Amino acid sequence: MDAHRALLQQNDPDLYAALVGEEQRQRSGVELIPSENYTYPEVLAALGTVFTNKYSEGYPGRRYYGGQEYTDVIENLARNRACAVFRSEHANVQPLSGSPMNQAAYLAFLEPGDTVLAMDLSHGGHLTHGAPVSHMGRIFNFVRYKTQPDKEGRIDFAEVRKMALETKPKIVLCGYTSYPRDYDYDEFKKIADEVGALTMADVSHIGGLIAGDAMRNPMDYGFDIMTTTTHKSLRGPRGGMILCKKGHAQAIDKSVFPGLQGGPHMNTIAAVAYTLKEAATPDFKTYARNVLANAKTLAKTLMENGGALVTGGTDNHMMVLNTVESVGIDGKEAEKVLDEVAITTNKQIIPDDPNPPLRPSGIRIGTPAATTRGMGEAEMVQLGRWIIDTLQHRGDAGYLAKRRGEVEELCRGFPVPGI
Ligand SMILES: Cc1ncc(COP(=O)(O)O)c(C=O)c1O
Repeated sequence: MDAHRALLQQNDPDLYAALVGEEQRQRSGVELIPSENYTYPEVLAALGTVFTNKYSEGYPGRRYYGGQEYTDVIENLARNRACAVFRSEHANVQPLSGSPMNQAAYLAFLEPGDTVLAMDLSHGGHLTHGAPVSHMGRIFNFVRYKTQPDKEGRIDFAEVRKMALETKPKIVLCGYTSYPRDYDYDEFKKIADEVGALTMADVSHIGGLIAGDAMRNPMDYGFDIMTTTTHKSLRGPRGGMILCKKGHAQAIDKSVFPGLQGGPHMNTIAAVAYTLKEAATPDFKTYARNVLANAKTLAKTLMENGGALVTGGTDNHMMVLNTVESVGIDGKEAEKVLDEVAITTNKQIIPDDPNPPLRPSGIRIGTPAATTRGMGEAEMVQLGRWIIDTLQHRGDAGYLAKRRGEVEELCRGFPVPGI
């Protein structure tokens, strides 16, 4: 690795300077974007290997190119480990990221115009769950259920059932990008069974928390398909995977390749295999539990200090702070003020947000990355107070400079793995 870095430094100083700057940024500030994490040094090593040179279209034992004796080993390791960690009958580890992973899953079972029942985007669903601006939203007919903000964001399953009976979806989809609760998978399954639909859970955000047995696993509830990114709470490289029952394996594999993608990124698959080895350890279970404990403490501290959380608390690793209600500014401004003190969050729409997506009413905050650094409940209390205090002191340059110094001082005590 060091030799490779030295070459990069020597042969492309501009690129190298940006790399060093990014390392410094990641080290000196607190990362609270819920979809980000610090990956393992071993993952960084695997990503930078000669597996990136190899074309491996097809699947282990059935490839379109020769020279696959080692790529078959790593893909089988990744698939077998994925099945073990997620208690799944089949795994496809080739999706290049979360969006193509969901596209491949839909395209395996749906015809254009078919209906999918999915979560409303402003209530927590992801763009690939049928946003009008995504191609998926143009190809398929997405019908959206909502959460109940006045009931801690819980889902009204009587309403979901009514929608399912009316619209006859082919897939009942649950999963989210900004929803701080856990799901009752049994209820989704009952509704899907009643209307003859497949069940699909996109657990991209909580894949690591499920792997670490800290949250419910849809596969334990008989779900047909589960998709997850590998780079969020799972701590792996950027990628996606599809878990499914054996009976769906052929449709899923054909849909990923040759349906949607060409050659898999074998260096990423090597890194995914390593990630899943880590995910099966007792240490990872502890990590997953700590992510949840940290989120609970951070949410409680924010609320105790005047923060209005959209669901009044959290069951997972994230929370959505309504910044308009809490401190009278929109999420865009809040994100910028926190950036100034090296606390990184992201602006976030809230349920039925009256504001536009680029100037929404809140920010999204999460604990996977800070927990990876070893931060615990004491740091969460500190950060929760600092977040509200900083937002209240926006515009006070002296205050912000002092706070940034304090944040950087805190970070020095918690090294970033891999840097
Ligand atoms: C629930 C969910 N699904 C899919 C994706 C898409 O993943 P990617 O950004 O890797 O395409 C995300 C990313 O934020 C997500 O949160």
